[in-house]
Amino acid sequence: MVDIETMRKYLLDEKLNADKILSNFREYGINEVEQVLLLGLDNIRLINRCSKETAEKIYTCARVAYGFNFPEPTPSNLINLEEEYVETPLVKLNKVLGNGFRVGSIIELFGSFASGKTQFLFTQSVLEASKGNYAIFIDTEKTFSVDRLKEIIINRFGEEEVDKILSRILLSTTISYSELEYTIFLLVRTLPKLIKEGKRVRLICIDSLINPYRAEFGSYGLAKLAERQQKLNWALRQLLRIAIIYKLVVLFTNQVVADPASPVNFVPSGGNVVAHASTIRIMLIKAGKNDRVLRIYDAPNIPQVEIDFKITEKGVEDK
Ligand SMILES: Nc1ncnc2c1ncn2[C@@H]1O[C@H](COP(=O)(O)OP(=O)(O)OP(=O)(O)O)[C@@H](O)[C@H]1O
Ligand SMILES: [Mg+2]
Repeated sequence: MVDIETMRKYLLDEKLNADKILSNFREYGINEVEQVLLLGLDNIRLINRCSKETAEKIYTCARVAYGFNFPEPTPSNLINLEEEYVETPLVKLNKVLGNGFRVGSIIELFGSFASGKTQFLFTQSVLEASKGNYAIFIDTEKTFSVDRLKEIIINRFGEEEVDKILSRILLSTTISYSELEYTIFLLVRTLPKLIKEGKRVRLICIDSLINPYRAEFGSYGLAKLAERQQKLNWALRQLLRIAIIYKLVVLFTNQVVADPASPVNFVPSGGNVVAHASTIRIMLIKAGKNDRVLRIYDAPNIPQVEIDFKITEKGVEDK
């Protein structure tokens, strides 16, 4: 994490009142540059009671202090290609993706009911926590099950690991889209707090992201569609920023809506906003009692392959 003090010299270069700005941020519990980057211009303005232009200058100072190549572009041959991956529960999927999900990306899992979305997220959380890392699980469906997590842990790592692994999976329950929005906003404070306590968060799961928006805006029909999509867009963009800035993976689930024009008769919900925000879109398909198929639906540089897997006492695993 980068202390906001690092911004001082850039603020002074811009002839801004660095003392005042830094103390304004600290008053709001903003102590690191990463937090400033996640605030967005509107919040920077609110905290500093300043003009849009000044807020933009402050934001630029934060970017430079963080080390982003802004505003000068970097030649590609100088870009650091050392990438970190979060290993998935499926060996075949890891192979297809390189080594797993790349940190700094946002992954969508969609499919009909019982296709294995929640089971995948449970298994992914257990795997990450078994490595000593932390996972934040945001449950909007009330389907989070400690018993199921225990079962997965016992069958993969043994009874003695249960407490240790469970303690690294942090649950946040939200029951409305506004609570979900607030939870996502508060990650600006939650993540630095956990990092300071020595807890390395590598995974944020959201099960599910779209449903609360569909549920609460659905009754208005088309009248509020634009507003819903705007809110969804904010949530997805904020999550992508978090993934990039804190070098973690965001994994969210999405349901499907009927579409006779599609070869499988359904498409993921959320429209273009979700389609464009996800780095990788993965479809899960039922293929028998416990058999499932995972299809890479849309991803840069990866072909549309299919991978068989099954749901067992170990969570999801290769078939
Ligand atoms: N302990 C277990 N052993 C084997 N299979 C299990 C176990 N627990 C759940 N399942 C299977 O997992 C499937 C449910 O998967 P999951 O809960 O991930 O669905 P989902 O895609 O999240 O659905 P929804 O859209 O309803 O949330 C069911 O078919 C169920 O039989
Ligand atoms: Mg589910």
